[in-house]
Amino acid sequence: MSAATLTARPGSPLVGRVRAPGDKSISHRALILGAMASGETRIDGLLESDDVLATAEAAADFDAVVSRDGSQWVVKGKGRFDQPIEIIDCGNSGTGVRLLMGAAAGFPISVQFTGDSSLQGRPMKRVLNPLGEMGSTWSGDNDGRLPLTLQGGALKAISYRLPVPSAQVKSAVLLAGVNASGVTEVIEPEATRDHTERMLKAFGAKLDITPEGEGRRIRMAGGQPLTGTHVRVPGDPSSAAFPIVAALVTPGSEVTVEGVLLNPLRAGLFETLREMGADLTITNAREESGEPVGDLTARHGPLRGVDVPAARAPSMIDEYPILAVAAAFAQGVTRMNGIGEMRVKESDRIALMATGLAACGVVVAEEPEALIVTGTGSAPRGGGSVTTHGDHRIAMAHLVLGLAANEPVTVDEPGMIATSFPTFEALMKSLGAQIA
Ligand code: S3P
Repeated sequence: MSAATLTARPGSPLVGRVRAPGDKSISHRALILGAMASGETRIDGLLESDDVLATAEAAADFDAVVSRDGSQWVVKGKGRFDQPIEIIDCGNSGTGVRLLMGAAAGFPISVQFTGDSSLQGRPMKRVLNPLGEMGSTWSGDNDGRLPLTLQGGALKAISYRLPVPSAQVKSAVLLAGVNASGVTEVIEPEATRDHTERMLKAFGAKLDITPEGEGRRIRMAGGQPLTGTHVRVPGDPSSAAFPIVAALVTPGSEVTVEGVLLNPLRAGLFETLREMGADLTITNAREESGEPVGDLTARHGPLRGVDVPAARAPSMIDEYPILAVAAAFAQGVTRMNGIGEMRVKESDRIALMATGLAACGVVVAEEPEALIVTGTGSAPRGGGSVTTHGDHRIAMAHLVLGLAANEPVTVDEPGMIATSFPTFEALMKSLGAQIA
């Protein structure tokens, strides 16, 4: 049984080199595209977290053969999803369920989807609506939330302008478009992470991507065959963010995280930290499996508050909890604008960060679409006991705060950290962190 709470204590500096765990977004996509494709997909560096393992199980339920061969994961796809016998339980994962719905919609199968209590509270109409326009139907008693049953079948392509900047919605439409008749078009007013587009190309599909204002227009003809390929999953910047910020705020620290994905559509946190004056350097910049990757070194030093523009939100949407922690150590006001989407993540992350930081003696205010943290340039009091509502990133962010605050910080439901970063505690301890 996992512990009921986890406590981070201030003390030693953090020093050392670690490797970030595999990127969660890319791991989900490698399994799903591997299952949709014909032939064998070999995946190096798959993130073996609870979320991703739920997607691996789903791929097998759709009748792909999924196995582990040494350190590689292998998916043998048939070029289609077959009718599953089991209910598809995506656990805590919005990415897993929304992308799987898109992929499944293009096949003549009826699929029951469910998830944990957090996922059952999250909006699914954002994908059900465009998938419905394409020709799928759904039924359920929870106002477009899980559990629900999706009926897929013959789809027709649509042109869809994203009403929210969401890579999950874009991906669901594109994955449905793989098996739709005609040319599927997605217009995103703000560019969001493009791993689905990059990976569809790696599996052999042709996509036409053109700039459109601040965003992009993506066009893809349906009926193109996908063929299994080799995917190397880079390190997750959203996970690397925790040891990086821990080093920035803990006196005497110097930490290098190797092999971090530096796709510009994911790197908004690092840009913001540099604007705050962070000592953050990239070495060994390279390309792996079509994605830019590098080693990131963070050294402790003073930070100053900044205004984070709303336009940056899609490139760091999962990183605001840990940015809010960095802001708590900075001198002055950090204002995070245009982050309303934070309220429909694994929890209402604006509300939980505001409550958790306040419990640790930080001056913080929330607005419907903003979070404002005022730091004094020195370590906050800490000492809070934080309710995470089972949200992994809320837990990790507050534990990082506890490593450099004046008093220890405790979080509940630490077992949920395994949804994205199962090695968090061990990795942080290997750098000298006191977490128990
Ligand atoms: C993800 C997209 C983001 C992000 C999530 C992963 C993805 O969600 O918050 O953790 O892999 O496409 P939205 O697309 O809903 O903003």
